[in-house]
Amino acid sequence: MKRVDDFRLNFGKQELVPIVIGGMGVDISTADLALEAARLGGIGHISDAMVKTVADRRFNTKFVKDKLKQYKYNVANSDKSMVQFDLGQLAEATRLHVGKTMEAKRGPGMIFVNCMEKLTMNAPKETLRVRLASALDAGADGITLAAGLHLGSFALIEDHPRFRDAKLGIIVSSLRALQLFLRKSSRTNRLPDYVVVEGPLAGGHLGFGMDWAKYDLATIVAEIRAWLMAEKLDIPLIAAGGIFTGSDAVSFLEHGASAVQVATRFTVTHECGLPENVQQHYFKASEEEIVVNQISPTGYPMRMLTGSPAIGSGIRPNCEAYGYLLDSTGNCSYIDAYNKQVALHPGEKKIIVMEKTCMCTHMRNFDLWTCGHYTYRLKDTSRRNEDGNYQILSAEHVFRDYQFSTDNKVALPE
Ligand SMILES: Cc1cc2nc3c(=O)[nH]c(=O)nc-3n(C[C@H](O)[C@H](O)[C@H](O)COP(=O)(O)O)c2cc1C
Repeated sequence: MKRVDDFRLNFGKQELVPIVIGGMGVDISTADLALEAARLGGIGHISDAMVKTVADRRFNTKFVKDKLKQYKYNVANSDKSMVQFDLGQLAEATRLHVGKTMEAKRGPGMIFVNCMEKLTMNAPKETLRVRLASALDAGADGITLAAGLHLGSFALIEDHPRFRDAKLGIIVSSLRALQLFLRKSSRTNRLPDYVVVEGPLAGGHLGFGMDWAKYDLATIVAEIRAWLMAEKLDIPLIAAGGIFTGSDAVSFLEHGASAVQVATRFTVTHECGLPENVQQHYFKASEEEIVVNQISPTGYPMRMLTGSPAIGSGIRPNCEAYGYLLDSTGNCSYIDAYNKQVALHPGEKKIIVMEKTCMCTHMRNFDLWTCGHYTYRLKDTSRRNEDGNYQILSAEHVFRDYQFSTDNKVALPE
């Protein structure tokens, strides 16, 4: 019986354990978590989502405070078009977050930056170019382009000195999305170094509609693999979404995936950024408490726990401090949803907004509990203490369990 450790992911001469810990914004996949994956010979991700907030937390900078100070005059105004990111500061925050992480890297693995392109930041192209270039400047081993995949992203950084040596990958949920990306970026003469194929059971935003349950990861991976082979394109595929045990992973590796990307099982580790009380909600969740809804202003369905404080919260939009989801016209669908409820309930202090959520504020505060479909199985991966809470795991324990387990077994902590 095979184990994940019987396989390797080859990037040129570099051989890696074929386990990738997926990016989890905002700072849920922390530098500490990514560093563990790299130390153990796999690939870890940090995320550049809300990077100024993350930098402030990690390095005591004052990026958010400064932005709020600059635009405070506008907080009561629904037109946010003037609330622009300072590109110099964005570059500085990214270089700090990525650079300090890369400096701390030990061991044979790699660290990539997950870049959610749906963070349009009131100037999609300009901010994306700065985010990508600064991550490369800061020495990231690679960048994974995620949700909202911008077909022209490669072209934005084609003049960067590291454009051809850093690993660049994309996340897709269909063959069609991959074909579109390859067609659009063919002009740069550079293929992605890897393609993460993310199925409908993943955490975070989904690359499917509300009919996600009709799709199946193994089928999509097989379809993409067959097409790549027919086109004689040799790009490693990384399967993601609902791979819960080492045996699940082996099954994908035996069917032509070069690695697996996993996340949910790491949400209950010490190295993960979620506060411990939130991690206990993940452990204790039942299957019925895990839903896919449309409250994310990005327009993509998102999976989360029904107990997330973000659901229904009617706080005032916080775009002067954050504003990561403002589109190129300075709008975010939460602003509209919020204004609608304010107009319907004049004079009321506390309003409820069900339609959308203020994603920046709630992700920043760990109040939007996004999770993978199999979160309800986390309780089977740890031991319960007498007080009813579960033992938080180490990232090394979970990583090694994926790497060495067989027979669909999950190793419990000592
Ligand atoms: C808490 C959480 C947050 C996530 N955030 C992101 C994100 O910011 N960007 C992204 O591309 N994927 C995100 N994902 C998806 C993961 O990177 C990964 O591809 C997927 O969840 C793997 O499936 P699994 O969780 O069933 O192992 C997130 C997943 C989780 C569980």
